[in-house]
Amino acid sequence: MKLWIPGPTEVRPALLAECARPMIGHRSDAMAKLHDRIDPHLRLAFGASAESGSAVAVHTCSATGLMESSLHGTGKRVLCVVNGSFSKRWAEIAQILGFETVTLKKAFGEAASPEEIDRALTEKGPFDALTLISNETSTGVRTPLTGVAAVLRKHPGTLWLVDVVSYLAGMPIDFDAHGIDFAFAGSQKALALPPGITVFAASKRYLERVRAAKRPSFYLDPVRVIDGHVERKTPATPCIPLYFALAQQLEDISNGVTLPERDRALRGAAAWSARYAKHERMYRTTEAWATRHGFEYIPAPEHRSWTVSCVKKGPLDVAKLLAELKKRGHTISNGYGDLKDISFRIGHMGDHSEADLANLLAATDEVLASGVAQ
Ligand SMILES: Cc1ncc(COP(=O)(O)O)c(C=O)c1O
Repeated sequence: MKLWIPGPTEVRPALLAECARPMIGHRSDAMAKLHDRIDPHLRLAFGASAESGSAVAVHTCSATGLMESSLHGTGKRVLCVVNGSFSKRWAEIAQILGFETVTLKKAFGEAASPEEIDRALTEKGPFDALTLISNETSTGVRTPLTGVAAVLRKHPGTLWLVDVVSYLAGMPIDFDAHGIDFAFAGSQKALALPPGITVFAASKRYLERVRAAKRPSFYLDPVRVIDGHVERKTPATPCIPLYFALAQQLEDISNGVTLPERDRALRGAAAWSARYAKHERMYRTTEAWATRHGFEYIPAPEHRSWTVSCVKKGPLDVAKLLAELKKRGHTISNGYGDLKDISFRIGHMGDHSEADLANLLAATDEVLASGVAQ
C-alpha cells in the first residue's frame, strides 16, 4: 500500500531499518556523533548557516509542541494569520498561553497577502511576534515567504515564527535570507520519516530575545531545548530510533539518493534544490490530471502547494474513491476541518517518485472511468 495522505507519508524500508538499530545511551559518544551527522544537513534544509548565528535543533515531540514552544519568551502580543485548521490551532495555543492574540482571518483556502499582513502589523501593532503557516496542510495553501519577509523587515520589533511542517524538504525555505526567527517541521511530512520528532531553527535575535525573558516551561522551553541540542545533552531522553532515521535521511537527501536517476550525482544544496524541483513537478502533474478531469483546486494558482493538492470534490463520492483506490494499493485523503466535506487531498511529498505518482493517477483514472465513485 502506497501512502499519499498529507502526513504521515510513505517511509522507505531503508529508513524503517534505521529505526530498528540496537539502542544507544542518549548521553553516549554515539549519540553525540548522531547529532553531529544531523546538524550540517539540517542547516541546508532550513537555509540556516552557522555564520549567521542561527541555531538548528531536534526535539522529541510532534510539531504542535513546537507551535507552543516557539511562543515562550517572545513577549505579550501576537498576530496570528489564520487561514486553515492548523493556523487556527496556533492562535488557540497563543491564547491559552496568555498572549493578547489578534487574528488576521482569511477564508480557509486563501492566503493572507503581504499587504494585508503589513496593514495588520501597522494598524493593530506593535506585536512581539507573528505566526504564519507557510503551507496549510488542511487547505493546500502555500503562502510565498518572500513577500512576507519584505514586510517583516519594516517591523523589526516583531519576531517571525513560521510553521514549515509540510513545507520543509519539499520547498526551499531560506531561513536566514528571509530573516525568519523560528521555523519548525515534524518528521512525518516531506522528510518522509515516521512521526515523533520535530526539527527546528531559531535566529540569533530570537535567541537573544527569549533567553532574556521569562519562559514558564520546561519540556517546551525553546532555549533549554536548543542549548541541550548544541551541548549534546538533550533535556530529556530523545526518541533515539527516529534520530537514526533522521541522520540517514538527511544524508541521503544531501547525497542525491532520493532523487530521480538523472539527478543522483547532485550533492549538497544542489541535491536539495533538485528535491524541491521534483516536488514542484509532482504538483504540476497532479494539477494537470485534476484539470483533465474538470476538478478545481481549492487554492488560487499562485498559492498552490508543491506538497499537498487540495481539490474540490464536486459530485464525486470521496469515500468510494478512497475505498476503490485502496483496493488498487493507494491511500489518499479526504478533506480536513472546515473543508472536510467538500474536498479531497493528495500528499505528493517526500520520497515518492514521479513514476509512483503516475501509477496513483492511472489508478484514479481507472476508478473514475468505472463510474463507481460518482
Ligand atoms: C501545517 C501543520 N502544522 C502543524 C501540524 C501539527 O502536527 P502534529 O500533529 O505532528 O503535532 C500539522 C499536522 O498535520 C500540520 O500539517
